[in-house]
Amino acid sequence: MVEKTTDNRKIEQKENYTALVSELMAVRARGTVPLAYIRTYGCQQNVADSEKIKGMLSAMGYDFTENVDDADFILFNTCAVREHAEDRVFGNVGALKALKKRHPSILIALCGCMMEQEHIANRIYKSFPFVGLVFGTNFLHEFPRLLYSNLISNKRIFKRGNDDKTIYEDIPTKRDGTFKGWLPIMYGCDNFCSYCIVPYVRGRERSRDFNNVVNEAREMINGGYKDITLLGQNVNSYGKGLTNSPDVSFATLLKEIDKIDGDYIIRFMTSHPKDCSKELIDTIADSKHISRHLHLPFQSGSDRILKIMNRHYDRAKYLDIVNYAKAKIPDLSLTSDIIVGFPGETYKDFQQTLSLVEQIGFSSLFTFIYSPRVGTPAAKMEDPVSAEEKSKWFTELLNLQEQISTENCASMVNKTYKVLVDGEKGKDDELTARTSGNIIVEFKGNSRLIGTFQNVQITSARHWILKGQLV
Ligand code: SAH
Ligand code: SF4
Ligand code: F3S
Repeated sequence: MVEKTTDNRKIEQKENYTALVSELMAVRARGTVPLAYIRTYGCQQNVADSEKIKGMLSAMGYDFTENVDDADFILFNTCAVREHAEDRVFGNVGALKALKKRHPSILIALCGCMMEQEHIANRIYKSFPFVGLVFGTNFLHEFPRLLYSNLISNKRIFKRGNDDKTIYEDIPTKRDGTFKGWLPIMYGCDNFCSYCIVPYVRGRERSRDFNNVVNEAREMINGGYKDITLLGQNVNSYGKGLTNSPDVSFATLLKEIDKIDGDYIIRFMTSHPKDCSKELIDTIADSKHISRHLHLPFQSGSDRILKIMNRHYDRAKYLDIVNYAKAKIPDLSLTSDIIVGFPGETYKDFQQTLSLVEQIGFSSLFTFIYSPRVGTPAAKMEDPVSAEEKSKWFTELLNLQEQISTENCASMVNKTYKVLVDGEKGKDDELTARTSGNIIVEFKGNSRLIGTFQNVQITSARHWILKGQLV
């Protein structure tokens, strides 16, 4: 007799729970089939996790609804990165109280990054008694069991706080898109930037097996995916700690995926400047399928602030990579994340951010006002600048970037770009599409073009919106 490995046993148990929920819900559903409503907050990691949860729910016989009133199962996959994200979750969960009263059989559940914070889980436990199931980011693989336990016992279940570093490869995925898709290549983060909650709620960095990632990319490409984004909090350190393939790097992974035949674009996020190698830039430049886009968050232009942020690079190093990338990839589109009002940041520091933005010329920026996160080092630092002052700085940054984006888009007029058509604008048979650099282009065309690559000539630009026509 072959002895079963722990992994096999885990898979078998999970399949049992899937079947058990399926049997139970076949008779308990409010309608003809059990319906789930899933709402995802936060970054693409959460979107990818929700696609796994949907995969498991599908296997358990659930269908999906966009209408929360019809659902048997309601799940919010939450984000903890800024206070605003958390406030939205609290507000929207609070609004479900009446629904649960009207339909006591529905199960309301919360998962994701917020749930990995103890003070948040305690608040949910005390203030939201109608929430029946809570599970943290490292319990996705246990979801069928947790769901079954709640359904059979009707007891509240809170499962969080574990970080066993295992990657569960066998969870089914139900992707939202048919031609654009997410592909997680690693989980967690080890960087501990002093403002950031992610390492505390997502656990230690671990990379997926090289062959598993390449095979999944191949399956997606063969299955018709045209735009695939490789996901990780710091994709540039992909491969660290992979004992069966110690020599792989993110650049090696990109090169291997790029060899797959087909017409598709590979994107990736997020890159950390401290690990962004020239080899990676060369790989993008020499590749056939990798998007001419680099999202490289610099957070602050001040070396003093970068040091306190624990970012492990300075302005000079950042400029060095960007200048190398611009020289190697002439049509490169650069984007970045910036935090305004980090504790102790002065207007002089902030001016350094403005000057870097001006010097580099990003296609677009994701800008955030600093939000203190419980348990991070920055939350304990002196933060003397008022919210009003930070908000003024923030507006100054937005105005500068608007001017740069406008110039950037204007310089694209009359040029022709290969774009992936990704949707309808909703009026005047206008379609939306994205360039390889991820810039949005609108043009008139038949909706049958959605999901195909087309060549579009840019005819006009207003701010960061490009209008074009099919060539
Ligand atoms: N791993 C990615 C970013 C993840 S979070 C990276 O390192 O680039 C996305 C962005 O949110 C960050 O780049 C940062 O700009 C912003 N962010 C993170 N924590 C924040 C906080 N406490 N307050 C404001 N913005 C924050
Ligand atoms: Fe947060 Fe820094 Fe990790 Fe990005 S690299 S997730 S900003 S700790
Ligand atoms: Fe938010 Fe978690 Fe992503 S905190 S930004 S959903 S990793």
